[in-house]
This record gives sequence, structure tokens and C-alpha cells, in this order.
Amino acid sequence: MSDNLETLRQNDPAIYAALKGEEDRQREGIELIPSENYTFPEVLATLGSVFTNKYSEGYPGRRYYGGQEYTDEIETLARERAKLVFKCEHANVQPLSGSAMNQAVYLGLLEPGDTIMAMDLSHGGHLTHGAPVSHMGKLFNFVRYVTNPGDGSIDYDKVRKDALASKPKLVLCGYTSYPRDIDYAAFKDIADEVGALTMTDASHFGGLVAGGAMKNPFDFGFDLMTTTTHKSLRGPRGGMVLCTKSLASKIDKSVFPGLQGGPHMNAVAAIAITLLKAQTDDFRNYARQVLLNAKALAQTFLEADVSLVTGGTDNHMLVVETSSSFGLDGRQAEEVLDEVNITTNKQIIPDDPNPPLRPSGIRMGTPAATARGMLEEDMRQLGAWILKCLKNSQDKNLLGEIRGEVKKFCERFPVPGI
Ligand SMILES: Cc1ncc(COP(=O)(O)O)c(C=O)c1O
Repeated sequence: MSDNLETLRQNDPAIYAALKGEEDRQREGIELIPSENYTFPEVLATLGSVFTNKYSEGYPGRRYYGGQEYTDEIETLARERAKLVFKCEHANVQPLSGSAMNQAVYLGLLEPGDTIMAMDLSHGGHLTHGAPVSHMGKLFNFVRYVTNPGDGSIDYDKVRKDALASKPKLVLCGYTSYPRDIDYAAFKDIADEVGALTMTDASHFGGLVAGGAMKNPFDFGFDLMTTTTHKSLRGPRGGMVLCTKSLASKIDKSVFPGLQGGPHMNAVAAIAITLLKAQTDDFRNYARQVLLNAKALAQTFLEADVSLVTGGTDNHMLVVETSSSFGLDGRQAEEVLDEVNITTNKQIIPDDPNPPLRPSGIRMGTPAATARGMLEEDMRQLGAWILKCLKNSQDKNLLGEIRGEVKKFCERFPVPGI
């Protein structure tokens, strides 16, 4: 045990015990929440390093505090690596979270009341894409597009018509719960026709773009891409705004001093480390395997006649319609799987008649399981357990047996960093 953890154990046993409990939970269970991952050991070490002590308001070479020789170096490295990995002209690595990075874009490039086109929440868009309960949803005029029933495709003719009618200043694609890829060329054409900026929120699949397994919006002439750094990218919690040179100054001013004060330099250092990892063959193989694993898991459900939103997956996630397939709402399904150490999250499905805390589905994804080295055959095993549990949710003996099997299975797959 490190000296620092031993000090924690002695001085705050309650927090120490919770930390150890969480380590066991992560080690002995299978993490299928698509927005979660196991970060790299180097990232864990850096997050707990002396960089957390430092205030660095401003940007490299232009700070409001002294003592910046090392923080300037790590932030410059993080920015340069981000530009290389995502093939873009400018990178701001300071946003404290995914929500802040999106707010920085809207507030930095638009005026309150301006129109933004984005995907509807129940069809896969994120809260920060203008959900009425969010502050951004109140400040800007969001026009929402939806997906077609059945295959869940986006009707680009309809998006175009709506764009011509509403004249958005920003066309936003990207999602938090949509298992398909995006037609960037179609969005770009529409945006160009109405003179709007183009933005992708790649928070979920940023790591898959970095690893070359999914398309890069900058290859289609997009103006902006935002991404969290802690999901498929496997870095620390944080966000990045990537953009063209022409937007760089507005974006930087919007992040600081517009929205935030001092960046979290321990996270910035960890983002730099993550972006070096993202350039390796190991990472490219990881990104490819995430997609193969998602396909294998989806196939297991499809073969059992389980309904999946959009009928399958092209990315790292799938959304299982539990109400129609098993007679369990999303909360019940999540709780049954929690009992066997398989972690998923309840999820609203397109036009869900049920409320968000009792929605009609659950969402699953493969980034974390793949980070432990699981492959397609392991996904088939996982899928078989999940089917058994959801079909026999009242059978406590069976759930107990499966929990034991899951724990044993997990011993074969060490968690990075624990
Ligand atoms: C697409 C998308 N954008 C933004 C966010 C917000 O990120 P954070 O939770 O770090 O604020 C998320 C988080 O789930 C997301 O999925």
C-alpha cells in the first residue's frame, strides 16, 4: 500500500473502507455502463499527484500565477497530442467535464436565444443538447430531431427541412444513447445550406475515433468536436473542445475566463498521458475490439428475439427494450443485474411512455469490459447470463448461482490499475 493510502486508512477509516469497497466492486463485477471505463494506471497515479496543488488560470505562456514551468509543459503536450490524435487545428483541454465543454461552445460562439439543432433526449441526445430541464435548454432555442421508428435511422430530409425553417446557428450531432454511427457528410451539407456551424459531441465514442475504429468528423469538414476524456478514451474525468483555428480564440476565451477558473492540472496531465496511449497499436486494437464485442453482445440478444433499439449496434453500445422483451422496466432490470454483479443503467427509449426513473429499457456498452481483455466469446457468455437473469428475475437461487459464476469469471480479467 502507498504511504498516502496508509495515512488515509489511519486518519479516515470510513473513506478508506469505501475506497476499498469500490475497488472490490469494480474487480468482482462486470461494468457494462457504456459511459464508464477503467482508466490507465498512469492516469490514476497522476490524478493523485502534486499537479492537483497547482493553480494555472490562463493558458501556457499567459498565466495569472507564477510557478508554471511544468504545468505549461503538460498543457502544451496535451494540446499538441490532442491535435495529432484527432486531426484538428486547435484543442482546449481545460473543460472540467463534458457538460462544461458543451456550455463553453454554446456560450462562446452563440448569443442567448440563438437556435441550435440537436438530437432529442429520448432518441439518444444528451441533457446538454438542450433538454428543457437544463440551463442551456432555457437559454438557447433548441430544435430537436428524432429517429425513425424501427431501424432508428435519422431522416436527413426531415432534418434539412427543419433546418431551412428554423435557421440554426449550430447543427449538433452526437449522442449519449444511440447505437448507430452518424452521416457527417449529410449533416455538413445541411449546415452549409443554412450557414450553420457543425459540431459533434463525441463524448461516448471519442476513444473510438482516436483509435481509428469510428469516423472522424474533421474528415468531413466539421468545425467542432467535443469529447469527454473518461469514457471510451480511458482518461481522467474531463472534457476537450477541438476546433478549427478560426474558432480557437473564441473557444479559449469562453472556457477561461468565460466559464471556468483554474483548470485541474492533475487531469490535464492525465489527459496528455491518455493521448500518448491513444497513438499506440494497443489502443487501436482496443478500439476495434470494443466494436466487435458490442456486435457479439447484441447478436446474443437478437438470437433470443430480444428487442434492441434500432435493431442492433454500429458502435460500442446497445439499448435493450426490457419492458417489451421481459416485462421488466429499466429500473427493475438494472436491479436484477446488480444482484449478479453486472452493472448496467436504466434508459429511456425513443418516445418512451414511461418516466426516466422507470423507463422501458437498459443501456449497455463494452468499453470497460474490453479494457479488461474480454473478447467476443466472453460477450456471448455475458449475454447468456443476462438473458437468464431477466427471464427468471424472481428466482433468487438462480441469481445467487449466477452471481458466484460472474465473480469467478471476473478473476480471469484483472482490472487495470487495481
Ligand atoms: C454525449 C455526452 N455529452 C456530454 C456529457 C456530459 O459529461 P459530464 O458528465 O462529464 O459532464 C455526457 C455524459 O454522459 C455525454 O454522454
